[in-house]
Amino acid sequence: MPRIRIGDADIHYEDAGRGPVVFLLHAFPLHSGMWRPQIDLLAREHRVIAMDYRGLGRSGPAPEVATMELLASDAAELLARLGVAHATVAGLSMGGYVALALYRKSPQLFRGLVLCDTRAGPDSAEGREGRHRFAQDALAKGMGWVADQMIPKLLGPNAAEEVVKRVRALIGENDPRGVAAAQRGMAARPDSEPLLKQVRCPTLVMVGSEDSLTPPSISEEMAATLGARLALLPGAGHLANLESPKLFAGELACFIAGLETPRRAQPPPL
Ligand code: MLT
Repeated sequence: MPRIRIGDADIHYEDAGRGPVVFLLHAFPLHSGMWRPQIDLLAREHRVIAMDYRGLGRSGPAPEVATMELLASDAAELLARLGVAHATVAGLSMGGYVALALYRKSPQLFRGLVLCDTRAGPDSAEGREGRHRFAQDALAKGMGWVADQMIPKLLGPNAAEEVVKRVRALIGENDPRGVAAAQRGMAARPDSEPLLKQVRCPTLVMVGSEDSLTPPSISEEMAATLGARLALLPGAGHLANLESPKLFAGELACFIAGLETPRRAQPPPL
């Protein structure tokens, strides 16, 4: 997995395939490895880039609070250094928060925006307190505790045993300090609901029908505000890309295909 130095951090990323660029932003408390099925499926016809946020996966170190703005600024710098001027940006859950922060910072980058199993609104005061408590507990109790807390929320009731194992392994590869930094960063995120009304690029909203963390009703509202199509992935929970990998990749590919300028008809031969 290649890496580049951005400020005081090494940012690890994957860059696979050729074609229209799709940039994938991962969920919490995972890392870019959660996109394995989509990277494999989409890299046949797209250039797929996925990064680990500071403090998660192999990127680091993270400051005490990894704000969405800092992660978005790393993302913009990574894309610039990889020579990417336009991309379809897809973020799942925390990835959606980072995608919205990236749109706020660099709207010109966006060929399309895909928000998956996420929300635009901020946390309640109670939610913020809960995140700070979680950060403390993660540091004290470690990644096994984090996985036990999160897996029942991240996966739907129909998740296959191998998916549960995969998610536990992905979470276990993270460091509690990065998890704590991400929780504090999410607690500090701004209200992005007003931003939804300012989005000018094509958009798609996706959600698992069994997502209990960001239920479909939230996605319905976001899609209505954005004027986006809502793709409901039947049977999938919050990590819809891992529970319905092919359907998820198919929706993304279809959205990206619709963005490509139709080829001008060739003039008839003289
Ligand atoms: C995620 O899946 O990224 C998290 O559940 C997001 C959050 O905690 O708000």
